[in-house]
Amino acid sequence: MFSTVSALGGNSHDLSVCENRESLGSAEEQTARTKLKMNALATQRTFATLQNYAGRFDPSHLYPLVQFKDGVKMWIEGEKEPIYALGGACSEVFGHGHQLEKINRPACKLIGDVYRSWGSGNPAESLSTHTSKGISMHLNGFLNEIERHIPSQWSSDEWILNLQVEGASAVWAGVDLLLQLNVSSNAELRADANWRIGVAELAYHGPGSTSLGTQQPLGAHPRQIAYPVPSSLFRDPGESLEDVNNRAKEEFDAFLNTFERQLKVLIVEPQRGSSACGETWDVEILKYYIDAAKERGILVCADEIMCGLGRHGNHSIFLSEALNLNVDAVTFGKAISGGTGDLLSGVIVRQGQNSLIGTRRTALQSHTYAGSSARALLTATEVLKEVPLWYDNIDRIDDIFRKMLLREAPSDIEFYGSGAMWGGRFTGANKIEQFRRFQESCSALKVSVYEVDRLQGFMMTPPYDVTREELTEGTNRLKEAIELARQSHPCH
Ligand SMILES: Cc1ncc(COP(=O)(O)O)c(C=O)c1O
Repeated sequence: MFSTVSALGGNSHDLSVCENRESLGSAEEQTARTKLKMNALATQRTFATLQNYAGRFDPSHLYPLVQFKDGVKMWIEGEKEPIYALGGACSEVFGHGHQLEKINRPACKLIGDVYRSWGSGNPAESLSTHTSKGISMHLNGFLNEIERHIPSQWSSDEWILNLQVEGASAVWAGVDLLLQLNVSSNAELRADANWRIGVAELAYHGPGSTSLGTQQPLGAHPRQIAYPVPSSLFRDPGESLEDVNNRAKEEFDAFLNTFERQLKVLIVEPQRGSSACGETWDVEILKYYIDAAKERGILVCADEIMCGLGRHGNHSIFLSEALNLNVDAVTFGKAISGGTGDLLSGVIVRQGQNSLIGTRRTALQSHTYAGSSARALLTATEVLKEVPLWYDNIDRIDDIFRKMLLREAPSDIEFYGSGAMWGGRFTGANKIEQFRRFQESCSALKVSVYEVDRLQGFMMTPPYDVTREELTEGTNRLKEAIELARQSHPCH
């Protein structure tokens, strides 16, 4: 995420190991030079050499070693000055000590008790259990809590919930369940080579190789087809957003007319995340999409892994509830278990108990410890109790971004968003150069956003307990980074 200057606060020329590769000579020479630079930087102690680690980035990436975090502030090992981390996707809903202490209290108490029992050789409460053996006794508390937030328009107690660990699996599980509710038997699914899942153009629902979505490093996913969406990304010169919406609507109708027999499930993201830098939908168009699909017997899964859990700013856990969307399933992701390491995700399906009971049909996607962590379930229950108390602060976050970014946006940059999920995109003729400079400037100014390189965009998703001072300071730094980028490559 951070370029190599971040922890050194200095000279970007010496350190830009990933740049200008073409001018560096042969591949072997490049690797040798890169390694030299990595070694030199590693002596500064703030970076891991990690030449054996192919993580989110390739092994030449110099990962800052994150030591402390508080709110949006993040300290790299050995550094005095913090980085203002405004974006790190959306896995953390709280960032300050008191809040974290509150939501993690039951789980931490459990760990303490278990640790003591282990130490004294006594039976200890189960922290997790292989799903073939049983379920956590804390599942019930979680189910009771989440039931309060089930979209009220569903008005049925026939809902079913499946738990996973990470978001990508939750989306798969949602699709699995809807697929099975849309056929009379799994034999029907097996026999039909033609059924398809509809995913939005540019959609991201998890890692490219295994998940649904249109990022496909290993080639097209055979079972899915991309449908057209309205987005300012596709705005032609001179077109208004209304034109874009109308065009998309016509294209979507044509898409449905062509594929309606094949499509069993459609996935929508009610506020786009990294696929469109936080862009919101025109609600009427979004409803039109969902209703048009439903009229044709296609079941709709809302992926709220990024925008849900109140982040959308409409004072409800799920955006589908706030917008009264006629969807059949809604996913939730990592943020639900507090972002401190115990992962949990899942999907709630509107209706299905009666169709599934006694049929041996359930989600096909499931790993052996899916949803079994007692710590994750305990913390998720607390998160669900706590988040609604922060809706007003989410409004304040919205207000700050709206005033500081949206209202003052220069002509060659667009901002989108709602609540505590915002994004921006360089749109001018020099957007590629500007974006590169922006990344460097963010590093130098010690502000970090979630970078969406392929769109020359970025996202900000602060925790809900961010203070006004922190957010204003971080946003001022962000604006400065944008300005430096624009000045270095002006679009005339
Ligand atoms: C909308 C959406 N769906 C699914 C996922 C996948 O979640 P995970 O990375 O936990 O697998 C993401 C990741 O950020 C996401 O933004």
